[in-house]
Amino acid sequence: MAKIAVLGHGVVGSGVCEVIEENKESITRRAGQPIEVKRILDLRDFDDLPYRDKFTKNIDDILNDDEISIVVEVMGGVSPAFEFTSRALQKGKSVVTSNKELVASKGAQLLALAKENNCNYFFEASVGGGIPIIRPMHLCLAANEIDEIVGILNGTTNFILTKMIRENMEFDTALKLAQDLGYAERNPAADVEGHDACRKICILASLAFGRHVYPQYVQTEGISNITLEDVAYAENWGGVIKLVGEAKRLPGKDTIKCLVSPALIHKESQLANIDDVFNGVLVRGNATGDVVFYGKGAGKLPTASAVVADVIHEAKSFGTSTSLTWADSSENFVEPVEALC
Ligand code: HSE
Repeated sequence: MAKIAVLGHGVVGSGVCEVIEENKESITRRAGQPIEVKRILDLRDFDDLPYRDKFTKNIDDILNDDEISIVVEVMGGVSPAFEFTSRALQKGKSVVTSNKELVASKGAQLLALAKENNCNYFFEASVGGGIPIIRPMHLCLAANEIDEIVGILNGTTNFILTKMIRENMEFDTALKLAQDLGYAERNPAADVEGHDACRKICILASLAFGRHVYPQYVQTEGISNITLEDVAYAENWGGVIKLVGEAKRLPGKDTIKCLVSPALIHKESQLANIDDVFNGVLVRGNATGDVVFYGKGAGKLPTASAVVADVIHEAKSFGTSTSLTWADSSENFVEPVEALC
């Protein structure tokens, strides 16, 4: 029996408990053992849930429990998630997360800590919600030099733009709907200002190019200034507006181009037809050519699916450090935007 603790009982955390309960039999078969949620950390009070007796507000109840071998961090934000994750890894507990803000800023450091302590730090759910992309890109495309990654990486903004394009809905109404559906971040500015997409392209670029790509060096513009007039203008031109993230190797240079911005996309393009909360990411390998990943990029159950898949992977390989790797570097490796013009 693998006993796990879940840090955070919000949209994703409650989804993780639900998926583990709902798919108990197949999860047990695939993990080679049953998986039980032993503790849940949340500062809020939850009274009438089947998990009532499992709640704690004290992280030490989890970290000092030797029976708990896997910690699921779905709290979001850097603090206290960074401290809790570091302490769990130092105790040899593997950590699984959907927290892209933490992975984008401290991923290299946490992976190194996991390696030092013979455990794992997995983050499949940090990019693309339910779409398998981190492990397939890192492992299944391992034989390639990755030349470019480009795509729609934020479900909330894609949902908002789709509503504006297809239903002429006002920005604020569409955002409220995305929040009600559980797509948006706790602070939706992270979505609409492009920071969430920026963190995701940084994670993919770090894995693809082997150096830590830090969000602060990436030129980022969101969709908060996009109006229904802009949408109509794009339509007249024969296209749509999408929020696109891109990371590209610059030939002959030791730097990459990395950007997040709204883009005018021709209607015939594959990206133009990715609607609603869906994400689509194209990865160009020098051996494979273009490989496209597509699916629901946000939401409770799609994201929980990716988290639980990592938990199953860990339960199966328990005791073996199989963490993904990317090299840390304090130097910026993103070409400044002026140099690209
Ligand atoms: N707020 C994020 C999005 C959640 O809309 O894509 C999934 O990472």
